[in-house]
Amino acid sequence: MQKIRTAMLGTGFMGIVHTDAIRRLGNVEVAAVAGSSDSKAKAFADQLYIDRSTGDWESLLKDPSIDAVHICTPNALHAPMAKIAIANGKHVLCEKPLTMTSGEAKELLDAAEARGIVHATNHNLRYYPVVQHVRQMVASGELGEILAVQGTYSQDWLLYDTDYNWRIEAEHNGKLRAMGDIGSHWMDMIQHLTALPITSVCGELTTFHKTRKKPKGSVQTFSGKTLSPDDYEAIPIDTDDFGAVLLHLGDRARGSFTVSQISAGNKNSFRFEIYGTKSGISWNQERPDELWIGHRNSPNQVIVKDPSLLIGGAAGFADLPGGHSEGYDDSHKQLFKRFYGRIANRSNPIDYPTFADGLRGMLLLEAVAESSAKRGWVDVNL
Ligand SMILES: NC(=O)c1ccc[n+]([C@@H]2O[C@H](COP(=O)([O-])OP(=O)(O)OC[C@H]3O[C@@H](n4cnc5c(N)ncnc54)[C@H](O)[C@@H]3O)[C@@H](O)[C@H]2O)c1
Repeated sequence: MQKIRTAMLGTGFMGIVHTDAIRRLGNVEVAAVAGSSDSKAKAFADQLYIDRSTGDWESLLKDPSIDAVHICTPNALHAPMAKIAIANGKHVLCEKPLTMTSGEAKELLDAAEARGIVHATNHNLRYYPVVQHVRQMVASGELGEILAVQGTYSQDWLLYDTDYNWRIEAEHNGKLRAMGDIGSHWMDMIQHLTALPITSVCGELTTFHKTRKKPKGSVQTFSGKTLSPDDYEAIPIDTDDFGAVLLHLGDRARGSFTVSQISAGNKNSFRFEIYGTKSGISWNQERPDELWIGHRNSPNQVIVKDPSLLIGGAAGFADLPGGHSEGYDDSHKQLFKRFYGRIANRSNPIDYPTFADGLRGMLLLEAVAESSAKRGWVDVNL
């Protein structure tokens, strides 16, 4: 069988995670990689045994031997890269948030649909097996009518004013930082699980570090060196470290969540709780194989991932037997399996997040930004 040939754009954290997950599918070859320079791309290709590398992503996207592309670059590059990929007939799997604006996301969705390519936004966190068990519980009515949702996505990697990354700069990231980076996952997840659209938001975004100390370029290569004040330049910051949002979902459900990149001790503490008229559930990404189920009139339960015990179609999202954990990297593999399954056979269902979900995410982020700016509720028509 001929393998699908894919190209990786971006050589950072996600470039590595995607390459690994793609290779575990078996029917897809990572045929080439594009980085921000020839040398960065070559170093990545050498490390991961990829045949071809380039610093010129645009010419790679024009290569007829490439079938699909993964966009794993800073957010500002998603739309320009996806646009050219679509124009050249490539199937596109793009990291979240899909774009910098909802206008760009709509343009990509329309172009992808018109060209008939397969498109996905990488909300991989949907694909932990017990998370899919929650989806089945909600769908089968085990929780009853959904009344309330709560949660957070909290991290601590930007706690100090000396912590720095491209995400801090709106030009590369978009105006919403913590909310765009991890709030986008939280809002996608809660809508995916409850099948209820978010209809109104009331949010507040906060920047605690109004100035951050950016290491000067030359210093970054001195590993282990203790930086002195001269090694930094002060940069004014206008992207959010923290955000809090009240929500309306569907006709009647209510909720709230926070996002934070300054919460000491939280690494990727993505938590949600869903409460219905019959029972409730609670999940934390830092303990991904466990699910708490709460009852009013009987003892609460904690179940652990075991495909033989997952309900409905949830077992199809677990590839290992019970007791063997399936984590973050597996969530990417599960999404990619469905994306490439659709490329291989168009009669396969679209059971992965598409550019339409990416567009919905951008509309919600813009609503949160508007709400925070005007200090009031904003309705969203998704
Ligand atoms: N789904 C998830 O769980 C998840 C997790 C982390 C990041 N992300 C998303 O993935 C994307 C990348 O984030 P990351 O953490 O890998 O960042 P990163 O900084 O580790 O990597 C970004 C890469 O893009 C490369 N790049 C920059 N300009 C380029 C250009 N012109 N051409 C080619 N490559 C270029 C950089 O050299 C770097 O290798 C972001 O959109 C982010 O939101 C998603």
